[in-house]
Amino acid sequence: MRTPPIPIRPRRSSGGGDLLEQLQSRVVGQPQAMTEIVPYVQMHRAGLAPDGRPVGVFLLLGPTGTGKTRTVEALADVLHGSERHMLKVDCGEFQMEHEVAKLIGAPPGYLGHRETQPLLTQQKLNAVTSESSNLSLLLFDEIEKAAPSMTRLLLGVLDKATLRLGDNTSVNFERTLIFLTSNLGAEAMRKYVSPDFGFEAMSPGLGQSGGAKKLQSIGWGAVKRRFAPEFVNRIDAVITYSPLDKTAMDLILDQQIAALERHIQDRLEDKSFDIELTNGARKVLLERGTSSEFGARELKRTILRMLTQPLAAMVERGGVPDGCSVIVDRKRSGEGLELMVDDD
Ligand SMILES: Nc1ncnc2c1ncn2[C@@H]1O[C@H](COP(=O)(O)OP(=O)(O)OP(=O)(O)O)[C@@H](O)[C@H]1O
Ligand SMILES: [Mg+2]
Repeated sequence: MRTPPIPIRPRRSSGGGDLLEQLQSRVVGQPQAMTEIVPYVQMHRAGLAPDGRPVGVFLLLGPTGTGKTRTVEALADVLHGSERHMLKVDCGEFQMEHEVAKLIGAPPGYLGHRETQPLLTQQKLNAVTSESSNLSLLLFDEIEKAAPSMTRLLLGVLDKATLRLGDNTSVNFERTLIFLTSNLGAEAMRKYVSPDFGFEAMSPGLGQSGGAKKLQSIGWGAVKRRFAPEFVNRIDAVITYSPLDKTAMDLILDQQIAALERHIQDRLEDKSFDIELTNGARKVLLERGTSSEFGARELKRTILRMLTQPLAAMVERGGVPDGCSVIVDRKRSGEGLELMVDDD
């Protein structure tokens, strides 16, 4: 009698397709970034990431407000269930040589040894893992601002995945994805994309590979001028984010309105309400919120000023009955938006 086949234990889904989709739904219009990053996460999940180095090291370049930090937040959300589940080092706080002690702690016997809690400890790195993933995300924001001694320390981290602290213990980065973000070359990129600064001037060919390649080469040039070759060589991928086009901004508007609705639901619970945007209102928000200088940051600010704050004023006055819809339309006379309650 043949023995029945042993059932294959169902495994938790860790398909790269899933991950790619989940990331792309959170970070709009930057497909190259996601396709570069996902294989490294898969290598880690499969247990095949090489020993003795971080799981992956990425340098994210490109204009402000295009989704660099958002990418790491999205990954944190997908892997650990919270956008904040990452360790972030603001390199702007480490511009002076002596400030590097804040990162690794002062050696015993040195002034400040007891007071300076190092920022980068094994405990802190482990604290940003979760039940669903043991991969830590470490973000060095605005790396171009770091003092040379910090870049030297980083060299060891990128190369050997270890960092020796002031107290002589060491931190292991073999289960860490490292992201470095920088605005290097961003100004030259902005000039290339939009020489006279207007939205309409945004290069129509940007989505095509020619425009993207040119931005990449601007980024690379700036990186090579700023960092030593041994530093650049230890980076797995330099990813250049493109300015967001109209289609991307349209999707981001949907995302941000959905996020505002979730926020209203979470905060106001049974007093919450829906928001309905007319096409006219969408147009106003997109016109005001699109900026080649600040990317989607401007849209976020515009929604806050033109929608969230007037809504808050209405709620505070008691002008929004529970469970109603607030219709947001373009003002018929004058500029801006008009908010009306629909309680049918
Ligand atoms: N590609 C995108 N998809 C979805 N939302 C985006 C995207 N880019 C920017 N945003 C929105 O704009 C906000 C700011 O973007 P983000 O923090 O990623 O900018 P950045 O590229 O890191 O810029 P900076 O160089 O100034 O740090 C995000 O919180 C998000 O709401
Ligand atoms: Mg950022």
